[in-house]
Amino acid sequence: MSFINRHQLISYLRYYVKAKTVNSVHSPYVYRLLMECLENRKEYNVFAKIDLLRQLLAQENREFDIEDLGAGSRQFKTSKRTVSGILATSVLSKKEGNFLFNLARILTPKTGLELGTSLGLSALYLCLGARQLDLHTIEGDQSIHDIAVENFKHADVDAHAYCGAFDHVLPNILPTIAPLDVVYIDGNHSYEATLRYHQMLSPHLSKDAILIYDDIYWSSGMTKAWQELIVDPSFQYSIDLFNFGLLIKQERAIKKQHFTIIERIKKPLSLGFWG
Ligand SMILES: C[S@@+](CC[C@H](N)C(=O)[O-])C[C@H]1O[C@@H](n2cnc3c(N)ncnc32)[C@H](O)[C@@H]1O
Repeated sequence: MSFINRHQLISYLRYYVKAKTVNSVHSPYVYRLLMECLENRKEYNVFAKIDLLRQLLAQENREFDIEDLGAGSRQFKTSKRTVSGILATSVLSKKEGNFLFNLARILTPKTGLELGTSLGLSALYLCLGARQLDLHTIEGDQSIHDIAVENFKHADVDAHAYCGAFDHVLPNILPTIAPLDVVYIDGNHSYEATLRYHQMLSPHLSKDAILIYDDIYWSSGMTKAWQELIVDPSFQYSIDLFNFGLLIKQERAIKKQHFTIIERIKKPLSLGFWG
C-alpha cells in the first residue's frame, strides 16, 4: 500500500483500526459479495488476456497532450502524458480489476455506467466478468478515449464509449438507457462533483443497483462526500473497502447497515467469529 498524501495515510490508519473481516458479516448478500470479490484468489482466463494488454500498453512511450476535466493529478505536473505513464498512475490495479470482474460475474448486471474510462481497463474487467453487460463509459480526453476504443476492439468488447465531460454527456445519455445495475465512478474526484453525479444518477438506478466509488480517501473532499453518501436512505448497504466505497440497493434488506471491511490476510488475528 503506498500513500499519495497525509490524508490518505491517516485515513488508512483509522480504517485499519476500525475494519473487520468478512467473518463478522451476518448479511448473506454482503457475505457472498465479499467472499466472491474480496477474498476470491481464483485466476480466471481473462486476467491473462488483460495482463497481456497491460504489457503492451506499458511499452507505449509516445508523448501526447491531454485535457484534464477532473480534480487534477497529484503525479503529473504538466498536461503531457504517455500511455505507459497513465497505466502506471491512473489505472486500477490488477487486484482492483479482479474485484470488479468478480462483482460483475456474480451480480450479472445488464446495464452499467462508468465515469472515467481512461485506457478502458476497468471497463474490460466489468464487461469480461458479465458478457451480457451493456456498458456505457465516459472519458473527457479525446486521445485517451481513442486508445480505450482501440483496447475494446482488441479485447472484442462492445462497450459504448463516449468522449466528453461527464456533466455534458450524462444528461444526454441517462434518459436513453435502461435503469443502471452497476455504476463505477472513477473520475473528477472532488466533493462537489461526486455529490452532483450522485444526484444525477440516483433517478436512473435499478432496484438492486450497486455504485462503486473509487478513491474515497483520495482527498478530504472525497472522504467528506463519501460520509454524506453513506447516509442516503435509498441504499440499504454501504461498504468501505478503503480503495472502493460501495453503495448497494437491496429491497429485501431488513435494515440499513454500514460495513468497514478489510481482507482477512491483512488482519490475520481477526479470524474469529466477530471479525
Ligand atoms: C482515474 S482515471 C479512470 C481509470 C479507469 N477507470 C481505469 O481504472 O481503468 C479518470 C479518468 O476520468 C477522466 N475524467 C476526469 N474528470 C472528467 C470529467 N469531468 N469528464 C470526463 N472525463 C473526466 C480523466 O481524463 C481520466 O482519464
